[in-house]
This record gives sequence, C-alpha cells and structure tokens, in this order.
Amino acid sequence: MKTIAIVNQKGGCGKTTISINLASALAELGNKTLLVDMDPQSHCAVGLAVPEEQIEQSIYDVLISSCNGESLKLTETLWQINENLDLAPSSIDLSAFEQQMNGMSEKENALMNVLDQVKDQFDYTIIDCPPAVGLLTFNALRAADEVVVPVETGYFALHGLSKQLETLNILCQRFNQKIDVRVLASMYDIRTKMAREILAELRNHFADKMFSNAINFNTKIKEAASFGQPICEYAPSSKGKRDFELLAKSIVEQDQQDQNKQLVNSLSDQLSSLSTSADDLALAVNDFEKDPETIEVEEELKKIDEEISKYISGSPEQLLGDLIDINVENLDIIEDEAQQDLPTTEDKLTDYYGVNQINKAVYFVTLYPKADLVQIAGDFNNWVPEETGLEKAGKSGIWQTKLKLSPGKYRYRLVVDGKWQQDPYNEKVEMNPYGDFNSIVEVN
Ligand SMILES: Nc1ncnc2c1ncn2[C@@H]1O[C@H](COP(=O)(O)OP(=O)(O)OP(=O)(O)O)[C@@H](O)[C@H]1O
Ligand SMILES: [Mg+2]
Repeated sequence: MKTIAIVNQKGGCGKTTISINLASALAELGNKTLLVDMDPQSHCAVGLAVPEEQIEQSIYDVLISSCNGESLKLTETLWQINENLDLAPSSIDLSAFEQQMNGMSEKENALMNVLDQVKDQFDYTIIDCPPAVGLLTFNALRAADEVVVPVETGYFALHGLSKQLETLNILCQRFNQKIDVRVLASMYDIRTKMAREILAELRNHFADKMFSNAINFNTKIKEAASFGQPICEYAPSSKGKRDFELLAKSIVEQDQQDQNKQLVNSLSDQLSSLSTSADDLALAVNDFEKDPETIEVEEELKKIDEEISKYISGSPEQLLGDLIDINVENLDIIEDEAQQDLPTTEDKLTDYYGVNQINKAVYFVTLYPKADLVQIAGDFNNWVPEETGLEKAGKSGIWQTKLKLSPGKYRYRLVVDGKWQQDPYNEKVEMNPYGDFNSIVEVN
C-alpha cells in the first residue's frame, strides 16, 4: 500500500478537492483506494455525499481506540463510496484529538498504526490534512510514503511556501523518515498572466520535485463538490476529470517504474556480487577442481538465472524480461555503427530510457505498459506526431525509435494514446507557451 498525504497549512488551496478526486481517479483506474479525512471540518464526507449526521464512528474513534489499546477496527468505520473507494470519515471530535493525546507516548504514530491494519486491503491511501501544522498533520506525515503539497497559482501562492517545505523537512528529520515531497500546482488558470508566471517560477524552483501536470481551475470541479460527487462521476468528459486522471496515471506509472527499477537493480546487484565471488573462487582453485564453496555459489547463480528466466517468460512480471530484451535489441540495431559505444551487459538496464545519441543516430526509449500508441512530435517532424511512431518491443511496455538528426537542438513531446506529454525519462526540458514542458535533445 502506498500512502500519500495531501498537506498545506494554507487554507483553501485545494487539498480536499485533490484528495477526493485523486482518490476517485486512482479507484477508477482499478486500484483499491482508501480516503482518510484527518480534517475536523469533515469536508471529504460532504464532497462525497456521506450524510454527516449518520456518521456514528469516525477516524477519531479509531485513533483514540488504538492509543488506548482498545479493539475498534478501522474497517468497522469505513463508508463504501464505490467498488474501489472507501472513506474513513472524520468528525468534529477530531479537533480535540491533540488535547486528549497529551502525554500519550504513541500519539504521533496513531494513524500509522491504524493504517497498518489495512495495508493488505488497499493499493493506495490518500490522507486529506487540515490547514494547520499540528498533531493531526504529524500523524499524516508519520503514516505517509509521499507528500503532495498543493499550491494555488494565485497571488499569495509563493508566500510562506518555502517555510512550509522547510517545516516538512524538519519534521521528516525529527522522525528520521524519508518521505518524497512533491509540489502540485492547483486551481491553475492559464488565461491569467500571473498564473502562468507563478507556474513557471514554481517549475524553475522545484524542477523534478513538481508534478509535470497542473490541476486547472475548472468550474465543474467546484460544482461536483456541491453535488457530493467526484469529478469523474459528475462530469466524465470535463477537463477537470482529465487533469485528475493524468495525475493518478502519473502516480501509478511512477510507482511501477520505481518497483521495476528496484527489482532490476536488486537482481543485477545480486548477480554481480555473486559473479565476483564465483570469479574469486575460480581463481583461488588452481586445479579447477570445484570445492564445496564454489559449487554453492554456482548453484546460487543458477537460481538467480532461473529467477530472471521466470520473469522473462511469464506475466505479470513480463516487464522485467522485456527490459532485458530491449538491451539485446539495442545491441542488434547498433552493432554495425559503433562497436565501442555498445552498452555492456553490466550497465543498468533502466539507463536506456530517455534519449541517447549513438554516433549519428538518436534513440528514444520509453516505458508505457498500458499504451496502445506512442508517437513523437517535435521540431524535426514539424510537430506532426503521425509522422513518427515508436515501436513496441515485443509484448512489453517499452517503446523505441531511432532517428537520424543533423547536429542541433531539438524540442519534442511524446504523444501517448493522443495525449501530449513530456518525456518522463529526459530531464532536459524547456517551458512552452502553453505552460507545459517540451523535452530537449541536443545532437552533436
Ligand atoms: N481546480 C479547481 N477548480 C475550481 N475550483 C476549485 C478547484 N480546486 C478547489 N476549488 C474550490 O476551491 C475551494 C477550496 O478548495 P478545498 O476545500 O479543496 O481547499 P482546502 O485546501 O481543502 O481548504 P481547507 O484548507 O479549508 O481544508 C472550494 O470551494 C473548491 O471547490
Ligand atoms: Mg480541506
């Protein structure tokens, strides 16, 4: 289970709107999702049409029960919103939580302990925080793997933001906890010059600590809340729904990439450490008679080889096999071009994502497991994506193409199932007039 806290002590910057709609979008993508309301204002219940007067037990009761060693389970207090989305509602009692917890040793870990009970039942937990830095927000931070800080792209947006991030940093240090903190532009109104300037400033300042897509100001989002519905139900074809869908997809995709990277790196680390041990042992045994230690290491190597073959042949871990395939395919394509530039098998497979120049050819390699069509549009094809499609490597989610480009600087964007986006694996970017990022490649 991945837990994401939506935090900003600034009131009205879109925390609850983002919590409700991100949770709904994740649920719509098929993820079992839990929305936890840690704000005594109970706005999540209002925004999802859960009648407040019918809420008998809230997250407050579960937290208190957990701290007192009592047996109230979180699952007994959940409200099912749809097949994949549950709400842990809050209540006004939560405003007394800090006072009541005074002196309790586990007071900052209460939510973390409670969520631990349901970690196998949900893929994602989204926590809506109150507009204050107090015990409730501490609890959310302790429970979180990731923090999203919504920033309204209005006049007071940047005011106090650095202070807010510094506070988060200090809290993480105090808890000795590593949390990913990312900034999300909210209520972005592209029509106003000030919003465009503020977004550019945020992107300049926070770079990769910022989500590439913003949540635009959209009146349908406001209306949806007043009808007690998430935007994906209230206005499924609205821009607001698309923004949250993109946000949810980028979070899921990032998780998959992190997991794949971890898996590939841990297997390749195991392989290289075992190969080194095997080599050392082989050298030590001059007459090549195998001693028991060598045999043991070789057997472990064989096991890891088998593990890798398993991933290559079978779903759902097909992806890892495909990562290995692409390495081999790349080798085939460029064999005649530059022997000395060939990637070696020791290189990390994930290093090939993004854009790489090998001699005169530029390789674009990216990962979109769920896409049906990946194209590229840029200066080099007059921004016409239909001109240049990427090829899918086998059944994998890896897409690649090779272009011969003359020396110079080129801007481009990827077009995935018709949606324009920056290349997630290329850090070189430049803002375009629409407030989005173009990816940059410089060919020598
Ligand atoms: N993208 C958006 N487009 C239009 N209106 C929005 C958008 N995001 C939020 N709003 C509106 O702005 C107001 C404040 O949003 P919201 O309640 O989500 O902020 P908040 O940070 O949770 O506030 P608080 O700090 O009081 O908890 C609400 O009326 C909401 O409907
Ligand atoms: Mg709120």
